[in-house]
Amino acid sequence: MPRGPRRPLGLGLGLGLGLGLVLVLLLPPPGAQGHDGRARPSDRAEEAGSGRAWTAFQGLRERLRAAGALSRRYWALFRCRVWPEDCGEEGEAPARPLGWSLPLLGQQYLDILTTWYCSFQDCCDSGDCRIVNNFTGLETDLRVRLHGQHLARELVLTAVRSYLELPRPDKALALSFHGWSGTGKNFVARMLAENLYRDGLSSNCVQVFIATLHFPHPKYVDLYKEQLTGQIRKTQEHCRQTLFILDEAEKLHPELLEALRPHLEHQAPANPRPECPRTIFVFLSNLGGNIINEVVLNLLKAGWSREEISMEHLKPHLQAEIVESTDSGFGHSRLVKENLIDFFIPFLPLEYRHVRLCARDAFLSQELLYTEEALDEIAKMMVYVPKEEQLFSSQGCKSISQRINYFLP
Ligand SMILES: *[C@@H]1O[C@H](CO)[C@@H](O)[C@H](O)[C@H]1NC(C)=O
Repeated sequence: MPRGPRRPLGLGLGLGLGLGLVLVLLLPPPGAQGHDGRARPSDRAEEAGSGRAWTAFQGLRERLRAAGALSRRYWALFRCRVWPEDCGEEGEAPARPLGWSLPLLGQQYLDILTTWYCSFQDCCDSGDCRIVNNFTGLETDLRVRLHGQHLARELVLTAVRSYLELPRPDKALALSFHGWSGTGKNFVARMLAENLYRDGLSSNCVQVFIATLHFPHPKYVDLYKEQLTGQIRKTQEHCRQTLFILDEAEKLHPELLEALRPHLEHQAPANPRPECPRTIFVFLSNLGGNIINEVVLNLLKAGWSREEISMEHLKPHLQAEIVESTDSGFGHSRLVKENLIDFFIPFLPLEYRHVRLCARDAFLSQELLYTEEALDEIAKMMVYVPKEEQLFSSQGCKSISQRINYFLP
């Protein structure tokens, strides 16, 4: 029995189907009587097999042939919608065909088709489908899944949202996350990727660099610099909104940081581009972790509640500590010294109750049942510091999800 042609699902098939869909939608199948729904072939789907699909395919070919002229018009329109740059050569091409007095119904089908096509491709009438900027989702994630970080929760959402809502940003946004390991810096970076991009960290608009992995040897710094700037440029060419996460920022060579400088300085609006690219850099480091912990400990001991701790308490200490850190290029980089980092975001040390919440989340995320006792057991497995107070988990919530394995039935 003949079957429809098998091709890998790709651009060709997408387009073939797309064009076919337009025509199927536009032209009633032979035998269908206008608005008479009962005459539609789908009502006879019971008797259908692949043979019917073949017949339909042949019918489609017939109609494709019959509608050659029309299809060319649609093809041109469709192409302009999907790849506006392809229409550039003819100047006003994208606008002109719309003036061809396309039947209203055809317009609607074209919209439907464009939406459908864009749902799995990287283009959209409204912009770029890879970019979702779900601030509701980001807000929820920061509120529900991040524990013990009232400052980061507030700052990250405000900073990112207000930057992405700027009509014409003239620089990239630079956020620098500071705190001990396990306090949620990587977690928040991932939340950003997941809520700003359809494909999260695997989006080709998002790049992650880990200092010791991508740039391990100081002697190759010139090569790394080229790679880094090349990668940034390439990503920006393909995406109008990009996110770069630089992990272990304290170990980045100062020259690599210097290479980011042009992005972080205000650009003169001399050459306004029609599309304003948006770029976010997120630096992750445990620089300043100790001073954050010290300030928090002192405030808690002085009777403050954790949520009363504000940026005013932390900011001066944190910035001084970063600038004075002698063993790191980050503190000494001109990015920091010339105030090119927009926000220093402190991640506070986590307490017993936060570790418990992380354990609960780990059970829930694996759809496992848990008991309050198990949560306590897991939280007790962590080491708490300083020695006297035993207040902060030295590893934060790190590797909690592995630890729940001990408590599975
Ligand atoms: C935004 O995220 C929330 C929570 O993850 C989700 O329920 C919602 O469907 C998302 N909205 C869009 C438009 O993707």
